[in-house]
Amino acid sequence: MEPGALLEVEVGPVAHGGHCVARHDGRVVFVRHALPGERVRVRVTEDTGGSYCRGDAVEVLRASPDRVAPPCPWSGPGRCGGCDFQHVSAGAQRALKAFVVAEQLARLGGLPDVDVIVEELPGGLLGWRTRMQFAVNRRGMAGLRVHRSHSVVPVKDCPIANPALGVASVLSRRWPGARGVEVTGSAAGAGGRSVRRLGHRSSALVEGPQVGQERAAGRDWQVSGGAFWQVHPAAADVLLRCVLDLLAPRPGERCVDLFGGVGLYAGALAAAVGPAGSVLCVEGDAVAAADAVVNLASTPWASIRRAAVDAGLVAGLSAYDVAVLDPPRSGAGREVCEALAAGPARAVAYVACDPAALARDVRTFTSAGWRLAELRAFDLFPMTHHVECVALLVPAPDGPPVDPLGEAGDATPGHPG
Ligand SMILES: C[S@@+](CC[C@H](N)C(=O)[O-])C[C@H]1O[C@@H](n2cnc3c(N)ncnc32)[C@H](O)[C@@H]1O
Repeated sequence: MEPGALLEVEVGPVAHGGHCVARHDGRVVFVRHALPGERVRVRVTEDTGGSYCRGDAVEVLRASPDRVAPPCPWSGPGRCGGCDFQHVSAGAQRALKAFVVAEQLARLGGLPDVDVIVEELPGGLLGWRTRMQFAVNRRGMAGLRVHRSHSVVPVKDCPIANPALGVASVLSRRWPGARGVEVTGSAAGAGGRSVRRLGHRSSALVEGPQVGQERAAGRDWQVSGGAFWQVHPAAADVLLRCVLDLLAPRPGERCVDLFGGVGLYAGALAAAVGPAGSVLCVEGDAVAAADAVVNLASTPWASIRRAAVDAGLVAGLSAYDVAVLDPPRSGAGREVCEALAAGPARAVAYVACDPAALARDVRTFTSAGWRLAELRAFDLFPMTHHVECVALLVPAPDGPPVDPLGEAGDATPGHPG
């Protein structure tokens, strides 16, 4: 189908990636800006030549009751691609994400019966994001990219950005020669915003502190530019509470925090297990690991190892009781999960920002004789399709179950099947 062609379709279920699945002439069409149950006119935006093409709903012929007027004036077909669900009511956004998590766990994880509820965070749908990266076009104007495109839509503001960032003043300036501009700030901590001009090979701080202060679990955390920190102001507290509730660390226990960042979970675990216990935080990024050294200084029974998390490292860990696993979007991967499943932990809390990667890794654990004991999900990224999950994995007393998917299970993320 030629890009630009118009199709009329019945919209089916939501799929991983912020679009819904429709069919036209026997082919799958991934439709953005639509909702399940709607009838829409779609403009084709991309045809891969394979089994599916992509398009935007440009006219709604029969609307879902979950449809609302997008609060952002820059969202919509062919415009800013930053948000996926501006046209969806708050409750329906969470229901769509719950559907996707359950579907990924069923299809890729071999677990067809997981009830998923996506929990709301305080603060509403707008004004939450404490880190924004804008692209800059050839004329030096900052904006956000069109979905799956290099085109930049100049914007005057961003309604999901936290007011502490003051992004309007950054967007009103010209940034000649820059590749992008990043604004970070802490809604909960102190220090004001930081603005970085992003070049093609380097970045330069143009305003604000290089080292930020965040607040979670009733204390401050040093987070330098470039180190990871959750972008929703309530996220660190919510995830920390969840991980502690699920693992229930006991005084004297030994913990590992893999992909530990600036030491958020390691710090909370150290407080929970006390000086009779121990915590090892493993983080690959030099800047984050240096922040972790500062953040864990008051609990010397917590140590930091700057290293890549891989199967060899996990297999070489000395005895531990509980583990936190918080990998980047690609997931921890089969080898790391197999090494953890072969280890001595009584429980692993897996914090995941991609439900497909989580589902694949959960399947590795269950194939090795572990079970998914609990799953919680949080709407850390309102208006977007992104969702954060925390899975509690424990060794199953009866050994490996029969893998319902078999060795050749489908591992194609986002494919409607
Ligand atoms: C999702 S963040 C989580 C950080 C921390 N747990 C938190 O919540 O603040 C993932 C972290 O893993 C680190 N990382 C990515 N790949 C890694 C690897 N192969 N080995 C070790 N660390 C890695 C990143 O630098 C980042 O700090």
